[in-house]
Amino acid sequence: MPTDTPAAAPAAPTRAEGLKAATRLTHDRLDQRIMAARIFDDRERFAGFLRMQYRFHRDIEALYALPALQALLPDLAQRSRLARIAQDLADLGQPLPPAAAPRLASDAAVPTALGWLYVAEGSNLGGTLLYKLAAALGLDARFGARHLAAHPEGAARHWRAFTTALNTLVLPPDQEQAMVAGAQAAFAAVNAYVAEELP
Ligand code: HEM
Repeated sequence: MPTDTPAAAPAAPTRAEGLKAATRLTHDRLDQRIMAARIFDDRERFAGFLRMQYRFHRDIEALYALPALQALLPDLAQRSRLARIAQDLADLGQPLPPAAAPRLASDAAVPTALGWLYVAEGSNLGGTLLYKLAAALGLDARFGARHLAAHPEGAARHWRAFTTALNTLVLPPDQEQAMVAGAQAAFAAVNAYVAEELP
């Protein structure tokens, strides 16, 4: 039956949806590159993936302890995965990558930091898939693939808690672009580490 009620306007994208759209192509290229490196062929190759993850998470480790970010993102401190990645490398008898200064300054501006954290947190979603594939190498939450294991409350729920906080925090409009640039810089860092660790 015809109606003169106008169709509802499409909802404006949330901040997390905006970040996803801005980085989709980069993500998909990265995903393909990692899978093309056949990281599940053997534990040596998987260790290259762990080194890449270690170097990325070392770049952002200081952010998890920043009071300004903890105030915006509840449970931030517990989201750090660097220690688990280090343990995964130790499980496989692999040394940590050589010491290096983090790419991101520990006093990074809040929007920049949020962009980097979006990438680290979002990577948990793909991580659930990688976790399943790691089983073929005998790796799991107790050995070698600790950092890929889903959060006890479920990866999707853990991610939603993060995006809800991200979407609702108030930022000056001119800082939105800095957040997108932060996410893009994070993906660029990961790409550089993939090039070096998974040639
Ligand atoms: C082979 C490696 C990877 C695969 C197969 C993969 C796969 C996926 C999948 C299936 C999702 C969920 C998409 C959805 O539910 O909408 C996802 C999300 C995401 N991944 Fe990856 N991923 C990989 C590597 C990475 C890496 C290395 C990073 C960054 C360090 C990353 C960052 C993200 C982000 C930020 C999201 C969230 C997108 C959103 O906003 O919903 N991924 N990935």
